[in-house]
Amino acid sequence: MNAVPTHLAVILDGNGRWAKKKGLPRNAGHVKGARVLEDMCEIVYNKGIKYFTVYAFSTENWNRPADEVSALMNLLRDYMKNSVKRAMKNNMRVRVIGDKTGLDKDLFDSIEELEKATEGNTGLFFQIALNYGGRDEIVRAVRKLAQSGADLTKLTDSELNEALDTSGVPDPDLLIRTCGEERISNFLLWQLAYSEFYFADCAWPDFNEAELDKAIESYSSRTRRFGGLAEGEA
Ligand code: FPP
Repeated sequence: MNAVPTHLAVILDGNGRWAKKKGLPRNAGHVKGARVLEDMCEIVYNKGIKYFTVYAFSTENWNRPADEVSALMNLLRDYMKNSVKRAMKNNMRVRVIGDKTGLDKDLFDSIEELEKATEGNTGLFFQIALNYGGRDEIVRAVRKLAQSGADLTKLTDSELNEALDTSGVPDPDLLIRTCGEERISNFLLWQLAYSEFYFADCAWPDFNEAELDKAIESYSSRTRRFGGLAEGEA
Protein backbone atom coordinates (compact mmCIF):
# COMPACT_ATOMS: atom_id res chain seq x y z
CA MET A 1 0.00 0.00 0.00
CA ASN A 2 1.29 3.43 -0.92
CA ALA A 3 0.45 6.61 0.90
CA VAL A 4 -0.30 9.83 -0.99
CA PRO A 5 2.13 10.35 -3.93
CA THR A 6 5.06 12.65 -3.16
CA HIS A 7 5.15 13.84 -6.76
CA LEU A 8 2.02 14.10 -8.91
CA ALA A 9 2.26 14.83 -12.65
CA VAL A 10 -0.79 15.70 -14.76
CA ILE A 11 -1.44 15.87 -18.50
CA LEU A 12 -4.15 18.53 -18.61
CA ASP A 13 -6.33 17.32 -21.45
CA GLY A 14 -9.79 18.13 -22.77
CA ASN A 15 -10.03 21.93 -22.48
CA GLY A 16 -11.09 22.18 -26.13
CA ARG A 17 -13.68 19.37 -25.93
CA TRP A 18 -15.09 20.83 -22.70
CA ALA A 19 -15.60 24.19 -24.40
CA LYS A 20 -17.05 22.69 -27.57
CA LYS A 21 -19.61 20.70 -25.58
CA LYS A 22 -20.78 23.96 -24.03
CA GLY A 23 -20.87 25.78 -27.39
CA LEU A 24 -17.96 28.02 -26.31
CA PRO A 25 -14.71 28.90 -28.14
CA ARG A 26 -11.77 26.57 -27.34
CA ASN A 27 -10.04 29.37 -25.48
CA ALA A 28 -12.85 29.44 -22.89
CA GLY A 29 -11.78 25.90 -22.02
CA HIS A 30 -8.18 27.00 -21.50
CA VAL A 31 -9.30 29.93 -19.32
CA LYS A 32 -11.41 27.63 -17.12
CA GLY A 33 -8.56 25.08 -17.14
CA ALA A 34 -6.11 27.68 -15.83
CA ARG A 35 -8.52 28.57 -12.99
CA VAL A 36 -8.96 24.91 -12.05
CA LEU A 37 -5.18 24.55 -12.04
CA GLU A 38 -4.73 27.42 -9.57
CA ASP A 39 -7.23 25.84 -7.17
CA MET A 40 -5.66 22.42 -7.66
CA CYS A 41 -2.24 23.71 -6.49
CA GLU A 42 -3.76 24.38 -3.06
CA ILE A 43 -5.81 21.16 -3.02
CA VAL A 44 -2.88 18.87 -3.88
CA TYR A 45 -0.67 20.49 -1.25
CA ASN A 46 -3.34 20.06 1.40
CA LYS A 47 -3.38 16.33 0.57
CA GLY A 48 0.33 16.07 1.37
CA ILE A 49 1.67 16.10 -2.21
CA LYS A 50 5.03 17.92 -2.30
CA TYR A 51 5.75 18.19 -6.06
CA PHE A 52 3.18 18.91 -8.77
CA THR A 53 4.12 18.98 -12.47
CA VAL A 54 1.70 19.86 -15.27
CA TYR A 55 1.88 19.83 -19.07
CA ALA A 56 0.73 23.29 -20.17
CA PHE A 57 2.23 23.60 -23.68
CA SER A 58 4.18 21.05 -25.68
CA THR A 59 6.83 21.54 -28.36
CA GLU A 60 4.15 20.23 -30.76
CA ASN A 61 1.41 22.64 -29.63
CA TRP A 62 2.90 25.40 -31.89
CA ASN A 63 1.16 23.54 -34.73
CA ARG A 64 -2.29 24.61 -33.45
CA PRO A 65 -4.11 27.49 -35.16
CA ALA A 66 -2.30 30.81 -34.61
CA ASP A 67 -5.18 32.38 -32.67
CA GLU A 68 -5.28 29.48 -30.20
CA VAL A 69 -1.50 29.58 -29.72
CA SER A 70 -1.58 33.31 -29.05
CA ALA A 71 -4.53 32.97 -26.63
CA LEU A 72 -2.65 30.26 -24.71
CA MET A 73 0.52 32.38 -24.60
CA ASN A 74 -1.50 35.32 -23.27
CA LEU A 75 -2.99 33.10 -20.60
CA LEU A 76 0.49 31.97 -19.58
CA ARG A 77 1.72 35.59 -19.62
CA ASP A 78 -1.11 36.55 -17.24
CA TYR A 79 -0.36 33.59 -15.03
CA MET A 80 3.37 34.39 -14.73
CA LYS A 81 2.67 38.05 -13.99
CA ASN A 82 -0.26 37.62 -11.61
CA SER A 83 0.67 34.61 -9.56
CA VAL A 84 3.69 35.93 -7.64
CA LYS A 85 1.49 37.22 -4.82
CA ARG A 86 -0.50 34.01 -4.50
CA ALA A 87 2.63 31.85 -4.72
CA MET A 88 4.28 33.87 -1.94
CA LYS A 89 1.16 33.66 0.23
CA ASN A 90 1.07 29.87 -0.23
CA ASN A 91 4.86 29.44 0.16
CA MET A 92 4.85 27.80 -3.31
CA ARG A 93 7.94 27.45 -5.48
CA VAL A 94 7.36 27.70 -9.24
CA ARG A 95 9.69 26.37 -11.94
CA VAL A 96 9.07 26.25 -15.68
CA ILE A 97 10.50 23.23 -17.50
CA GLY A 98 10.93 23.12 -21.27
CA ASP A 99 12.86 25.17 -23.79
CA LYS A 100 12.35 28.68 -22.45
CA THR A 101 14.61 30.14 -25.14
CA GLY A 102 11.84 29.46 -27.66
CA LEU A 103 9.42 31.83 -25.88
CA ASP A 104 8.80 35.55 -26.41
CA LYS A 105 11.20 37.75 -24.47
CA ASP A 106 8.56 39.29 -22.18
CA LEU A 107 7.19 35.85 -21.25
CA PHE A 108 10.73 34.57 -20.69
CA ASP A 109 11.45 37.54 -18.41
CA SER A 110 8.31 37.12 -16.31
CA ILE A 111 9.06 33.39 -15.89
CA GLU A 112 12.55 34.27 -14.63
CA GLU A 113 11.04 36.79 -12.21
CA LEU A 114 8.48 34.32 -10.86
CA GLU A 115 11.09 31.57 -10.49
CA LYS A 116 13.49 33.90 -8.73
CA ALA A 117 10.87 35.37 -6.39
CA THR A 118 9.69 31.92 -5.30
CA GLU A 119 12.94 29.92 -5.28
CA GLY A 120 13.29 30.06 -1.48
CA ASN A 121 9.72 28.86 -0.85
CA THR A 122 9.42 25.52 0.91
CA GLY A 123 5.76 24.56 0.31
CA LEU A 124 4.49 22.97 -2.91
CA PHE A 125 7.11 22.73 -5.69
CA PHE A 126 5.05 23.47 -8.81
CA GLN A 127 6.60 22.71 -12.21
CA ILE A 128 4.92 23.99 -15.38
CA ALA A 129 5.99 22.30 -18.63
CA LEU A 130 6.01 24.96 -21.30
CA ASN A 131 7.43 24.55 -24.80
CA TYR A 132 8.25 21.15 -23.37
CA GLY A 133 8.92 17.80 -25.05
CA GLY A 134 10.46 14.80 -23.30
CA ARG A 135 12.74 13.97 -26.22
CA ASP A 136 13.75 17.61 -26.58
CA GLU A 137 14.59 17.76 -22.85
CA ILE A 138 16.89 14.72 -23.13
CA VAL A 139 18.61 16.09 -26.26
CA ARG A 140 19.14 19.50 -24.59
CA ALA A 141 20.56 17.78 -21.48
CA VAL A 142 23.05 15.73 -23.52
CA ARG A 143 24.10 18.84 -25.48
CA LYS A 144 24.57 20.75 -22.23
CA LEU A 145 26.79 17.97 -20.85
CA ALA A 146 28.81 17.82 -24.07
CA GLN A 147 29.27 21.61 -24.04
CA SER A 148 30.47 21.48 -20.43
CA GLY A 149 33.24 19.09 -21.49
CA ALA A 150 31.81 15.97 -19.79
CA ASP A 151 33.12 12.64 -21.10
CA LEU A 152 29.94 11.28 -22.67
CA THR A 153 31.46 7.83 -23.12
CA LYS A 154 31.28 7.52 -19.30
CA LEU A 155 27.86 9.16 -18.88
CA THR A 156 25.87 7.79 -15.92
CA ASP A 157 22.15 7.62 -15.22
CA SER A 158 22.44 10.11 -12.37
CA GLU A 159 24.55 12.60 -14.40
CA LEU A 160 21.95 12.67 -17.14
CA ASN A 161 19.17 12.88 -14.55
CA GLU A 162 20.78 15.96 -13.01
CA ALA A 163 21.20 17.64 -16.41
CA LEU A 164 17.46 17.46 -17.10
CA ASP A 165 15.11 20.42 -16.56
CA THR A 166 13.64 18.59 -13.54
CA SER A 167 17.01 18.38 -11.77
CA GLY A 168 16.69 18.00 -7.99
CA VAL A 169 13.07 16.84 -8.15
CA PRO A 170 12.21 13.17 -7.51
CA ASP A 171 10.46 11.23 -10.30
CA PRO A 172 6.64 11.38 -10.35
CA ASP A 173 4.93 8.63 -8.34
CA LEU A 174 1.64 9.11 -10.12
CA LEU A 175 0.71 10.45 -13.57
CA ILE A 176 -2.89 11.46 -14.22
CA ARG A 177 -4.20 12.17 -17.73
CA THR A 178 -7.71 13.59 -18.05
CA CYS A 179 -10.39 13.29 -20.74
CA GLY A 180 -10.09 9.62 -21.59
CA GLU A 181 -6.89 9.63 -23.69
CA GLU A 182 -4.34 7.00 -22.70
CA ARG A 183 -1.08 8.30 -24.19
CA ILE A 184 2.12 9.82 -22.79
CA SER A 185 2.41 12.46 -25.59
CA ASN A 186 6.14 13.13 -25.09
CA PHE A 187 5.70 14.14 -21.41
CA LEU A 188 8.51 13.40 -18.89
CA LEU A 189 9.73 10.39 -20.89
CA TRP A 190 12.74 9.79 -18.65
CA GLN A 191 11.09 10.62 -15.33
CA LEU A 192 7.95 8.46 -15.75
CA ALA A 193 9.96 5.20 -16.04
CA TYR A 194 8.37 3.65 -12.91
CA SER A 195 5.37 5.92 -12.29
CA GLU A 196 1.84 4.64 -11.84
CA PHE A 197 -0.64 5.89 -14.46
CA TYR A 198 -4.27 6.90 -13.87
CA PHE A 199 -6.68 7.92 -16.62
CA ALA A 200 -9.65 10.07 -15.65
CA ASP A 201 -12.65 10.34 -17.97
CA CYS A 202 -13.52 13.92 -17.08
CA ALA A 203 -12.08 16.86 -19.04
CA TRP A 204 -9.51 18.99 -17.20
CA PRO A 205 -11.90 21.96 -16.62
CA ASP A 206 -14.21 19.54 -14.72
CA PHE A 207 -11.39 18.06 -12.63
CA ASN A 208 -11.86 18.63 -8.90
CA GLU A 209 -10.99 17.35 -5.44
CA ALA A 210 -13.33 14.33 -5.71
CA GLU A 211 -11.63 13.27 -8.98
CA LEU A 212 -8.22 13.71 -7.37
CA ASP A 213 -9.31 11.58 -4.41
CA LYS A 214 -10.35 8.78 -6.80
CA ALA A 215 -6.91 8.86 -8.45
CA ILE A 216 -5.08 8.86 -5.10
CA GLU A 217 -7.25 6.00 -3.84
CA SER A 218 -6.39 3.95 -6.94
CA TYR A 219 -2.69 4.80 -6.52
CA SER A 220 -2.62 3.89 -2.86
CA SER A 221 -4.06 0.42 -3.51
CA ARG A 222 -1.33 -0.53 -6.03
CA THR A 223 1.82 -2.52 -5.39
CA ARG A 224 4.88 -0.80 -6.85
CA ARG A 225 7.68 -3.09 -7.93
CA PHE A 226 10.20 -0.82 -9.70
CA GLY A 227 11.16 -3.76 -11.89
CA GLY A 228 11.81 -6.05 -8.92
CA LEU A 229 9.55 -7.79 -6.44
CA ALA A 230 7.40 -6.06 -3.87
CA GLU A 231 7.93 -6.71 -0.15
CA GLY A 232 6.59 -10.14 0.81
CA GLU A 233 6.61 -11.45 -2.80
CA ALA A 234 10.00 -13.18 -2.61
C1 FPP B 1 -5.22 20.39 -23.45
O1 FPP B 1 -6.53 20.60 -23.90
C2 FPP B 1 -4.71 21.57 -22.81
C3 FPP B 1 -3.72 22.39 -23.29
C4 FPP B 1 -3.00 22.16 -24.55
C5 FPP B 1 -3.33 23.58 -22.53
C6 FPP B 1 -3.29 23.46 -21.04
C7 FPP B 1 -3.25 24.80 -20.48
C8 FPP B 1 -3.95 25.26 -19.40
C9 FPP B 1 -4.81 24.45 -18.53
C10 FPP B 1 -3.92 26.67 -19.02
C11 FPP B 1 -2.65 27.37 -18.88
C12 FPP B 1 -1.74 26.91 -17.84
C13 FPP B 1 -1.25 27.68 -16.84
C14 FPP B 1 -0.07 27.24 -16.08
C15 FPP B 1 -1.86 28.96 -16.47
P1 FPP B 1 -6.82 20.47 -25.45
O2 FPP B 1 -6.89 21.83 -26.02
O3 FPP B 1 -5.82 19.55 -26.06
O4 FPP B 1 -8.24 19.82 -25.42
P2 FPP B 1 -8.86 18.88 -26.52
O5 FPP B 1 -8.00 17.64 -26.55
O6 FPP B 1 -10.22 18.62 -25.97
O7 FPP B 1 -8.87 19.63 -27.80
